Amino acid sequence: MGRKFFVGGNWKCNGTSEEVKKIVSTLNAGQVPSGDVVEVVVSPPFVFIPYVKSELRSEFHVAAQNCWVKKGGAFTGEISAEMLANLGIPWVIIGHSERRALFNESNEFVGDKVAYALSQGLKVIACVGETLEQREAGTTMQVVAAQTKAIADKISSWDNVVLAYEPVWAIGTGKVATPQQAQEVHAELRKWLQTNTKAEVAASTRIIYGGSVNGSNCKELAGLQDLDGFLVGGASLKPEFMDIIKAAE
Ligand code: G3P
Repeated sequence: MGRKFFVGGNWKCNGTSEEVKKIVSTLNAGQVPSGDVVEVVVSPPFVFIPYVKSELRSEFHVAAQNCWVKKGGAFTGEISAEMLANLGIPWVIIGHSERRALFNESNEFVGDKVAYALSQGLKVIACVGETLEQREAGTTMQVVAAQTKAIADKISSWDNVVLAYEPVWAIGTGKVATPQQAQEVHAELRKWLQTNTKAEVAASTRIIYGGSVNGSNCKELAGLQDLDGFLVGGASLKPEFMDIIKAAE
């Protein structure tokens, strides 16, 4: 089954209204590969989503960077999956390592969030990835398998899930995973899905890479067999995001 290349731009907690306006006009003016070969989803901070959604040309989609784990209510400061669905926001990023580390989101909590977001009709970019210590200790696969299992345990369908492998040591560091490192983990994750879910899930689920992807390193990574796209942080705020989208060609 063909896996359409996926490029996500995670703007994280960045931007003023002027800056957001500029990014949107760069995207709107940019050329994307023809032939429906790439799905592009940008993820602005919550407050800018309505503006970005209304101004971006229709082939680009938007994602929230997080949502609450269950139905909304008395949870000050949270945004519920229902609200995202209500506003027509199709995607949400869940389990980013910054949320796992800074907000103590456990594997189980992330699994619950993914399941709840899916139940509300959202599509999910679910993030996994090991720290430098874990990589150096040789436990990369155990770590990402446990993170993936916590999601798999809670969901019945992977149709609306994109799995993002983001090694923590590569995020915002300029230290991108080598093509061999990325391919190795992506292939292992696909094997994990094959063994623990269904062959069709392994064949059709997009596994994308995040961590210091930029306009110069994207092309080589895009050619890897088990790499189906990118989740881009810093470079998604810059015009070079268009070059990363073009890596789908
Ligand atoms: O979610 C994207 C991300 O964490 C990678 O960030 O800045 O290394 O591209 P960056």
